[in-house]
This record gives sequence, structure tokens and C-alpha cells, in this order.
Amino acid sequence: EKDGHKHFMAKEIAEQPVAVDKALKAYLDDSCAIELPEGLDFKKIERLSLVACGTAYYACLVAKYWLETIARLPVEVDVASEFRYREPPVGPGTLALFVSQSGETADTLAALRYMRGKADVIAGLVNVPESSIARESDVVLPIHAGPEISVASTKAFTCQLTVLLMLALKAAQDRGQKLPTGMPADLRALPGLIHQSLASEAQIAAASRDLAGARDIIFLGRGALYPLALEGALKLKELSYIHAEGYASGELKHGPIALIDDSVPVIVMAPRDALFEKTISNMQEVMARGGRVILVTDAEGAREASEGTAEVITMPQVPDALAPILYAIPAQQIAYFTAIAKGTDVDQPRNLAKSVTVE
Ligand code: M6R
Repeated sequence: EKDGHKHFMAKEIAEQPVAVDKALKAYLDDSCAIELPEGLDFKKIERLSLVACGTAYYACLVAKYWLETIARLPVEVDVASEFRYREPPVGPGTLALFVSQSGETADTLAALRYMRGKADVIAGLVNVPESSIARESDVVLPIHAGPEISVASTKAFTCQLTVLLMLALKAAQDRGQKLPTGMPADLRALPGLIHQSLASEAQIAAASRDLAGARDIIFLGRGALYPLALEGALKLKELSYIHAEGYASGELKHGPIALIDDSVPVIVMAPRDALFEKTISNMQEVMARGGRVILVTDAEGAREASEGTAEVITMPQVPDALAPILYAIPAQQIAYFTAIAKGTDVDQPRNLAKSVTVE
């Protein structure tokens, strides 16, 4: 049942090229046109409200970057457990989108029910098409990841991102916005790129033996990679029980830099994009205080900024919009191999349930 893998998590990480390919094929036809289910007309939508918990919430944070920069649509993202207490006013033309692997998360479902009668359209982006969230949505966007058994979400996250990116591209087209160069055709390269990035496994396994001894670990990212820093830290906490925090690189000097010394590993997610130099300067502030940096970047980034780092994980070079999807792989592998090195229960971490059906 684990296809020769030691854990469901390892199997589900390895399945991502195939899972993401399925998610793509469900919405992208042979001529690279994006087809969304009926009921999602972005000509009529003026704003989006995205609501979710945990890893699904981080997928929404990435989607905000895409929807705002590519489709020029205003987006609000909320943690489901807080959403309805704010009693947010809901303007006309609002699409409320609830993202949930299981489709059964109690807080997300309660937020959906709050929006009933307030939002113009209620959509559910789920992995389980017969789930409560799917049943109570006007429009369902299945992510086609296949069953996810491990408590730590992996392939559901990359499939959520893939579908959310297609949603952003379609919204841009409907609203007459120019798509980023190469899109949507470049989406087709995703499964191959994910496959390529899985090859860093041995290097990450070696680096993780060192991470397993740390008490605190910090993840940094900027732009759409900031939510990946949050996701990397959540995954690491869940699996290895090591205290980890994700920060926007630019926030470092507003407090967290006080934590840095030579006992704190700092994982920097920085593809060589327009924001690279700023993130690297934050990384150098960390190194100047003795922080041990693991830099996750591409070949160009590695050439420019490896000096002084403890380790560089080299990812394939990708179009900017695809980077958050690809950088999920090393985030997952770091958590997985650190847990292995610590000997914790990878598939069934303490105190956690796969589906959280209480508020
Ligand atoms: O089924 P859902 O996507 O609604 O679950 C949301 C969170 O409970 C979930 O993503 C959780 O954070 C994972 N254990 C993360 O790995």
C-alpha cells in the first residue's frame, strides 16, 4: 500500500509529478485553454475571499499573490477559525472560495455557512469531491491529488496551488489582463520540474541530520515565497516537534533577528527573481550574526550568493509564477528527513488528526 516507500508521506511526496499532472489535465485542454466549471465567471467577480486552515491557508496566501499581480483582482485571505468572528462585511461581486483537502474541516465549513447568502458565489476547492464542503458549495473545483493518508499535507498542497494558479490565469484572461510570458503553456512543464527537484533528496537528507539537533529553526521568504516559509515551518513543527517559524525576509530586522546565533539554522527560500537581491541581503544579515544558512535557490542564485552559506539546495530554473509550487518540494523533504533523523512518527505525528472536525 505504500508502494515500496517507508511512509505514506514519502509515497505522497514522490507522487507529486503524477498528481500535479492530473490536476493540470482536469482544467487545461490540449490547446492549453483553461476550462473552469460553470458558474465561475470572472467578468462578474470583483473580489475574492479565500478561507482555509493550516497548509490549505498557506496555499491561499500564495494564491493572493497570483490573483492580485496576474489577474489584478483584490483578494482577502483568512484563517477559517477567525473569519466569522470578525463578521466581515461582504461587498457585491464577491467570490468566496474555501480551500480544504478533506472538505470536512469544521472551521472551514462554518466559515462557508457564514458566507451563504452573503457572497455571490460559494466555491469549494477540495480533494474529496463527496465531502461536506463540496456538497455545500455552488461550484466545486476538485484538485485530483488522489487519497492523502499522511497527516502532513504534501501532494494536496501542490495540487491546490496548481489549481489556484490556473484559476488566477483564467481570471486574468476573463478580465483582459496580459498573462505572464509563456503562460499558460509553461504549466505543462510543472510535472517534469517537480520530478527534477525531487532529486535533491539525498542532499536534503544529509543536511537534515544536522537540523535534527536544533532547538529552533527559521524559514525566510519574500513575495510568493513568504507563504512557503510559513509552510516549511509548519511542516517541520508537525513532524519533528522542533520549534520553527516562517517570516517574511523583510520582517527579520523588526524582531526575530534577536534570536539568531550559531545555534539557529535559517532556511532561505530564494529563487533568482526580481526580489532575490533583497532577500539575499537579509540572508547576509543572518550570516553576520553567526546564523547557519541553508539557501534554497536555482543555479543562477547559487552562483551569485553561495558564499558563506552552510548548504545550497539547487532547484531547477523556473518561470516566477511556478516557483512557489516547486519550492514546496524541498520544504516537505526537509521536514520529512528531519523527522526521520529524530525518529518521530512521520505519518501519525503526536496530537494531530488528518481531518480536524471540531472547532
Ligand atoms: O483538510 P484540510 O485541508 O481542510 O486541512 C487543513 C489543515 O488541518 C491541514 O492542512 C493541516 O495543517 C496539515 N496537517 C498540514 O500538514
